[in-house]
Amino acid sequence: MKILIVGGGGREHALAWKAAQSPAVETVYVAPGNAGTAEEAKLINIAIAADDISALKDFAISEKIDLTIIGPEIPLVAGIVDEFQQSNLACFGPGKKASQLEGSKSFSKAFLKRQAIPTADYEHFTDLDKAIAYIKEKGAPIVVKADGLAAGKGVVVAQEEAEAISAVTDMLAGNKFGEAGSSVVIEEFMDGEEASFIAICDGTIGLPLASSQDHKARDEGDKGPNTGGMGAYSPAPIVDATMHERIMSEVIEPALKGMRDEGMPYVGFLYAGIMITADGTPRVLEFNCRFGDPETQPVLMRLKSDLIDLCSAALKGELKNREIEWDDRAALGVVMASKGYPESASKGDVINGLKIDPDETVKIFHAGTMEKEGAIVTAGGRVLCVTALGENVSEAQLSAYKAVAKIRCEGMFFRKDIGYRAVNREKTANI
Ligand code: AMP
Ligand code: GLY
Repeated sequence: MKILIVGGGGREHALAWKAAQSPAVETVYVAPGNAGTAEEAKLINIAIAADDISALKDFAISEKIDLTIIGPEIPLVAGIVDEFQQSNLACFGPGKKASQLEGSKSFSKAFLKRQAIPTADYEHFTDLDKAIAYIKEKGAPIVVKADGLAAGKGVVVAQEEAEAISAVTDMLAGNKFGEAGSSVVIEEFMDGEEASFIAICDGTIGLPLASSQDHKARDEGDKGPNTGGMGAYSPAPIVDATMHERIMSEVIEPALKGMRDEGMPYVGFLYAGIMITADGTPRVLEFNCRFGDPETQPVLMRLKSDLIDLCSAALKGELKNREIEWDDRAALGVVMASKGYPESASKGDVINGLKIDPDETVKIFHAGTMEKEGAIVTAGGRVLCVTALGENVSEAQLSAYKAVAKIRCEGMFFRKDIGYRAVNREKTANI
């Protein structure tokens, strides 16, 4: 089989690396890929941007690609799957309508409400005065979200009323996120612990992947600005067997049924960001129409089943009675980011120390990297995700940080506490 992976981040490196392990796969093309995918056996980078749908489609037709898997949300929300299907190309991901679950927060919140799936109370606004009046009525803490895609930056969790008012003013009057911020969702602040719950879906059935947790804030202790994710690990101890059941029956299953009933069956990876509140209820923070980044990296390190076989079965609507096999070990990935991230990204800095002894327990997934004059240099905000397996999260953490310590790059930084909640739980359990 010939596979095309669309995207060039750490998630796509992991997807392509895993796809290449399938015995049925001969070549995996990655568009555009990065310096890490350029080096892998069976992988070939193609210089087409992830949002250039017509060039991607032409490539898939001319190369007779058997299956395309879409990494990022932008092409999904723009309708790449519909475009590919019109040309009879197998393309794994939700269509344009179903991708609104991520592409429009107001669509997604209204859907959650219609389907009675637990989430924060909210209102949707395009009028600034009404939005401000609502904030004053509800008081802080309160959460302001740009309706459209804003690369993970369109959410402001405001501790003070003034911060919420300034956020909503930036979006509705200041054009901060352009069209994406011309309408906003303002919602109730939820306190609790977050988990990422991702299922592979065939339109009817959602097969849960191993649970995971990421760290969205830039700084240690989950402080500082929100990023795309500074690290992740799997499994997430907070998602125990009971919580797993609850998320499946209260979130994933009703979401899939709702999407089917509403005429847009969901095929693809469905990512539910869940806030587990003090009373133990899993409430939806957001839906993403794709795999998480960096959750993909630790989750796929643990996947023993054949990814291509699973995606092919999901596309055919054949996930019923399938099981996914997991490595019992835990995996943890530490993101190394370039100077200035998330506000900006320093580019062109040489990265040293990437050559590690081949070891099936440690993998350096690349994201914003490229090759320049024989060296690997930074090319984006999140640069690497150093991922390791271990007997538990504590051991995976130790091993990942050992590999991180060998990597040198001007200004590159990383959080030193990835996985701390799970590690603390493991410590308490062992006392
Ligand atoms: P989202 O992109 O909607 O997941 O929001 C990004 C991050 O903002 C989430 O991962 C949470 O940490 C935080 N967040 C979003 N909505 C809420 C909420 N209603 N209450 C508390 N925190 C939130
Ligand atoms: N790590 C969060 C996301 O992929 O949206």
